[in-house]
Amino acid sequence: MRSRILVTVALFSLTAAAAASCEEWCKHACEELNGNIEQECGGCDTSDPAFTCHPEAANFANRGAAPRGAVPQMYEHHEDRANTAAFDYHPPHVHESGACEFEMIIDHREVNRTWLLGYNKPVLVRGATEDWSARTKWEYDSMLRVYGDSAYHVEHSGNVPLGQLLQRTGKYNMGHMVWPADDCYKELFRPYSPFLSTTAADYEVPSYLKPMRTFQMGIGTGEGIGVPPENHPSSWFAAVVGRKRWILTPPGPQPPPAMLNYPGCLVQKKATASLTCDQLAGDILWVPDWWWHETCGLDNFSVGIGGITYENADKDTRTRPCAVSEGEYRSQDIKYCQEHGCPGLENATIKKPTSQRA
Ligand SMILES: *[C@@H]1O[C@H](CO)[C@@H](O)[C@H](O)[C@H]1NC(C)=O
Ligand SMILES: *[C@@H]1O[C@H](CO)[C@@H](O)[C@H](O)[C@H]1NC(C)=O
Ligand SMILES: *[C@@H]1O[C@H](CO)[C@@H](O)[C@H](O)[C@H]1NC(C)=O
Repeated sequence: MRSRILVTVALFSLTAAAAASCEEWCKHACEELNGNIEQECGGCDTSDPAFTCHPEAANFANRGAAPRGAVPQMYEHHEDRANTAAFDYHPPHVHESGACEFEMIIDHREVNRTWLLGYNKPVLVRGATEDWSARTKWEYDSMLRVYGDSAYHVEHSGNVPLGQLLQRTGKYNMGHMVWPADDCYKELFRPYSPFLSTTAADYEVPSYLKPMRTFQMGIGTGEGIGVPPENHPSSWFAAVVGRKRWILTPPGPQPPPAMLNYPGCLVQKKATASLTCDQLAGDILWVPDWWWHETCGLDNFSVGIGGITYENADKDTRTRPCAVSEGEYRSQDIKYCQEHGCPGLENATIKKPTSQRA
């Protein structure tokens, strides 16, 4: 299984390999970067001291497993961890655009938290985001105009503005806020972002999706962006701009990826246990506890926000020591945050006096 999927990925990467570039961010150490290092810094001059991350640098090819949740297309998809033999598969088929196989598609006004947390199947919620100014304000041109210079990532090596990240087509840029505020972020997998606080006036998280343990945004240009199959405690995701195709599989063995983040999001290897759903812009999708989910952007620009929430998510205030060797850090460890203060999850979910709500 592994060799077959790697061949697919390798073939797909050929053009990328030929076009290896040397981006501005290669001035940082390779281990501080997310995305496809081989492609983005593979073209850097190994003798130019300005570029710390180049093909002969430490950690260039040895950054461990590909990160989840921050992975562009053309990345290794952990097929080796998938239990391909544990599933039966549909013959390859075309998923009708806009269709959703969930049993439960419900209006926002009919949802409450007790019901949602107790309903152990995926849910598509319609009508929850109609009042969000983000629905228009976060369209590509407007987003760049209003927020292009705002910091999306605040890292040890400096702040990265949104506009810079969006230049890289095919990259899914995740930005997180965790609760409690002194819990750990993680380079590549769960990077800190103040951006949800910057834009907090543009959206309002429904009360049934709070309290959250993590709050995050995913944004990027190019079709196909999203995550390979991953699972965690129950979560939600609002597609604010752009449509997203999901494949959800009940808790149990890890399914192999079915869409592989290819533009078009063709469903190539879907288990009979899995459900496919096209989330339209404005929809909120509910992923129950530990359901596997793979996502794939159907439009060439997409932005959405989501979070992890479960019963009593706000009762356990214990935090772990951060494993610095694994790239974990607290926002207060970042020099910029020490000097300027950095917002946390509570700053991103305040009730806005300027709310657009009628
Ligand atoms: C919660 O929502 C469900 C589903 O719409 C509904 O059946 C139930 O009556 C609601 N409960 C309360 C207390 O509103
Ligand atoms: C997406 O494609 C449309 C139509 O081809 C184009 O007008 C638009 O500029 C593209 N947007 C981005 C962010 O690439
Ligand atoms: C975040 O919220 C806290 C508590 O409401 C407040 O004290 C703090 O000033 C806020 N920080 C920022 C950077 O907005």
